[in-house]
Amino acid sequence: MAILVLGGAGYIGSHTVYELIDAGREVVVADNLLTGFRAAVHPKARFYKLDIRDRAAVDALLEREKIDGVIHFAASSQVGESMSDPLKYYDNNLGGTTVLLQSMVAHGIDKIVFSSTAATYGEPERVPIMESDKTAPTNCYGETKLAMEKMMGWTGRAHGLRYVALRYFNACGAHPSAVIGEAHDPETHLIPLILQVPNGQREQISVFGDDYPTRDGTCVRDYIHVCDLAQAHILALDYLTRDGESDVFNLGNGVGYTVNEVIETARRVTGHAIPAKMCPRRDGDPAQLVASSDKAKRVLGWKPRYDSLEDIVGTAWSWHKSHPHGFGGE
Ligand code: UFG
Repeated sequence: MAILVLGGAGYIGSHTVYELIDAGREVVVADNLLTGFRAAVHPKARFYKLDIRDRAAVDALLEREKIDGVIHFAASSQVGESMSDPLKYYDNNLGGTTVLLQSMVAHGIDKIVFSSTAATYGEPERVPIMESDKTAPTNCYGETKLAMEKMMGWTGRAHGLRYVALRYFNACGAHPSAVIGEAHDPETHLIPLILQVPNGQREQISVFGDDYPTRDGTCVRDYIHVCDLAQAHILALDYLTRDGESDVFNLGNGVGYTVNEVIETARRVTGHAIPAKMCPRRDGDPAQLVASSDKAKRVLGWKPRYDSLEDIVGTAWSWHKSHPHGFGGE
């Protein structure tokens, strides 16, 4: 029996496929390659180019392959774009998940691990954030992810499907082999943007706001290594295989770093001065997002291996240095 990874050519999906194959699992990947890369797919995974909104294609895959459980990353994930083009997010994220769940129910596949986000919380009431805290998304991306969680809950009640939703905080870093890593177009995330400076692709990094109520005035985030996120998906699938109940888990390191601290870490790692320029706040950025991941540790047995920001940025730097154009050429 194989694990089906939808969106397995994307950033977190491709790292999860590498971890699954390293753990000796049989893996089938499906991806429409709109934002993912064929080169990011592990050579030992069987690959299908398909869009999860295409019911006939999803049905054909589930009929052809013997699938035991699904890990679902196939979604649009840019906060800014979700605000300017919300219907794209409803169509791709909610429409795609509707079709996927319909096909899973029709084929008797009852386990799904799902890529959710800290954006489901919106502006936090307190840090660290617990899974039981209020969910009030402040952007359409988070809204659709929260709706996807609820869709799985109602489908589970009606059809016996069980799900685990993993709410990631700030995913970052790259596979230690530097064979795969982060590659977005356009890139909006802090660490890859910082590393474009020592890579000669950017003059300086813009710091979005230094008047937040934090220790140095810049935003605080919880940076978690992508391979640690990947491990959590395997543990979540094993939990569902052991008849675990549907549930939601935060995934973060539980430690917050300011934007200035991340830039300082990147200076140490790369040996480059990395000039920074103070800019106005970016719309919709909460001052602080830090996870309590105690529940994932307790229930899933998850233990992040990368707890030093320096190590995390070091893996990202190895990837970006060796792949300055991502998967587009070395
Ligand atoms: N930042 C800068 N300069 C930049 C880019 C980012 O100062 O050029 C700052 C942002 O303002 C923020 C921090 O760096 O304070 C991190 O920004 P990212 O864009 O890397 O990540 P976000 O915290 O905005 O996004 C993360 C996830 C999203 C999720 C969101 C929830 O990547 O998927 O948290 O708010 F939706």
